[in-house]
Amino acid sequence: MDDILILGIESSCDETAAAIVRNGREILSNIICSQISTHTIYGGVVPEIASRQHIEKINFVVDEAVRQAGISDCDLCAVGVTYGPGLVGPLLVGVSFAKGYSFAKKLPLIGVNHIEGHICSNLIEYKDLNPPFLCLIVSGGHTHLVIMEDHGRYTVLGRTMDDAAGESFDKVARAIGLGYPGGPKIDKAAKGGNPEAIAFPRAKIADNEYSFSFSGLKSAVLNYLNSCHQAKKEINRDDVAASFQAAVVDVLVSNAMRAVENTGLKKLALAGGVASNTALREAMQRECQKRDVDFFVPSPVLCTDNGAMIASAAYFGYIEKKIAGPDLNAVPNLKL
Ligand code: KG4
Ligand code: ZN
Repeated sequence: MDDILILGIESSCDETAAAIVRNGREILSNIICSQISTHTIYGGVVPEIASRQHIEKINFVVDEAVRQAGISDCDLCAVGVTYGPGLVGPLLVGVSFAKGYSFAKKLPLIGVNHIEGHICSNLIEYKDLNPPFLCLIVSGGHTHLVIMEDHGRYTVLGRTMDDAAGESFDKVARAIGLGYPGGPKIDKAAKGGNPEAIAFPRAKIADNEYSFSFSGLKSAVLNYLNSCHQAKKEINRDDVAASFQAAVVDVLVSNAMRAVENTGLKKLALAGGVASNTALREAMQRECQKRDVDFFVPSPVLCTDNGAMIASAAYFGYIEKKIAGPDLNAVPNLKL
């Protein structure tokens, strides 16, 4: 069979990204244009500014992906694009661009669910990994524990009831003055802190053993900071970071291990921006090893938003002929 080259486009949040992937697993190019420095001064992503920056960057990012792959656009077989979930303005930029590009180049268009894209980053990292497997997706916008039954087929075991894991990292980081984006900064600060210094709560959801909740934890951190402030007690930032991170990791690992034990699946993958967290990777690895379960986690560059994961998911859609029409639209709250 001839090689299938797919262009993947991602613009659901604050990264304008495009990549060329061969046969769903091999990256030929992966261009990521991050807007972090722009949004840092506002302490979070400003949707209107993000949309405008996507418009400014998308032509260059796609051209660069084709150029760095050493191919011509005539070699492409299809265009994959994130159409949800995400911020509506940013999504519309990618979807509109992909529609125009695929029409002009006479290429089929595949609409990709961003969460499915995150899962597929594991298929790029591990060439022999095939479903079924368990996957925990933890990002700035999502916290999902799923079974990937087959390509394009998922059973969602649990999701967050309120804040996403990454969102809680970002909010706590802001509260302790570490700035945006908080995840990597908490990760770093936690290395110098004591994870047992402060006993933050681990939320349990009564009606679903796989659901997550992080807003209570965030409030507990804020309450702790306020009470220290009132008592004029100095805050040890590294200890707060380490104790908060330990609470998040604990909940993520215990729900994932419950799923391992209940489903009997012997493969567990991590995905999403928070999957690059060092403490989470170490704890998952350790608990999987104890249970004789194979653990998969993408390299950090494939954990955060990128076009390669979108091209990979689009490849599996393409071979199943899931082609989108010109009416493809952005769906901000698209479900898996
Ligand atoms: O997957 P992603 O790039 O975007 C979404 O789809 O949301 O994830 C971004 C999130 C942010 O909340 C960021 O703080 C978090 O991932 N993150 C981390 C780390 N690196 C990124 N969280 C914890 N530890 C990290 N090392
Ligand atoms: Zn993402």
